[in-house]
Amino acid sequence: MSSNQSVKVLVTRDIPQIGVDLLRKEGYDVTVMGYDKPLTADELLQAAKKADALLCLGSNKIDEVFLHECKHLQVISQFAVGYDNINVPVATKLGIPVGNTPEVLSDATADIAFGLMIAVSRKFFYLHNTISKGEWGFFQPKKNLGIELKNKTLGVFGLGRIGTEMARRCKGAYHMTVIYHSRNRNVQAEKELNAKWVSFDELLQQSDVLSVHSVLSEETKGIFNKAAFGKMKPSAIFINTSRGGVHNEADLIDALTTKTIWGAGLDVTNPEPMQKDNPLLFMENAAVLPHIGSGTVEARNAMSQLAAENIIAFYKTGTMKNCLNPEVLLRK
Ligand code: GLV
Repeated sequence: MSSNQSVKVLVTRDIPQIGVDLLRKEGYDVTVMGYDKPLTADELLQAAKKADALLCLGSNKIDEVFLHECKHLQVISQFAVGYDNINVPVATKLGIPVGNTPEVLSDATADIAFGLMIAVSRKFFYLHNTISKGEWGFFQPKKNLGIELKNKTLGVFGLGRIGTEMARRCKGAYHMTVIYHSRNRNVQAEKELNAKWVSFDELLQQSDVLSVHSVLSEETKGIFNKAAFGKMKPSAIFINTSRGGVHNEADLIDALTTKTIWGAGLDVTNPEPMQKDNPLLFMENAAVLPHIGSGTVEARNAMSQLAAENIIAFYKTGTMKNCLNPEVLLRK
């Protein structure tokens, strides 16, 4: 790039202003699209053809076809920590660095996992609905009973930054024992939280609350299926705040209906958005939120800032704070 003036940045959705302002302060030519709804695949493609840098969201499909049509892109910066919408290996082959926004949303997302756990254990959403249906009757000593969380075992599937924050909350509030299953050992969490690595089967068998914090990949797609739920305790609560594709929704509904497991709390579904007649919305021991893990003022501002800073750093220094394929930066 000879001057910042010529850097054309396409922002695919109306994100918090802080990132847009940072990009404009650098003198970049910034176009913000998708003010009222996400761009269609074709709108995205046409707009990206005119851009040098792309600041995109998880709802944008940055697949092989798109990347081959847009191999001129110099950098892609995702406004999210998850990146299953982006074909990173193809971007790498084409020499396009891809950034994302980890860390800044870990507290916000862990709060949603923790909140869903309590909501399920005490049937918050279901009981709220009974009131709106005019069904708040007399005090019933043996009805609507929840289960307590103190001293229970938390199983974390994918003990990264968000999983660690969830474990901190569970240990701090309820003295829960922490076990986890991840591709890699998390030595830091083992030290700090006395977390114990277990096999996937052990995680299923021993968890009272099993919280999913992994990425969605070929390895994790649908891993929580009928067989997995069948190995869990009938008193267990399943929480997923990562990606809906990690669980099989039909199998989860079946596991709840047959009381194979006790309850489930989801911030992510498959597909999204969830249909309004989905049985999970009416079950006593289920709680569903519309993918709002990072939905706080603080987290969204920080995501906007970091997504912009990744682009700025790329043009200024040839590096990025958070790059998913740093080998590309070395090649440049
Ligand atoms: C949200 O789901 C994210 O990946 O940031």
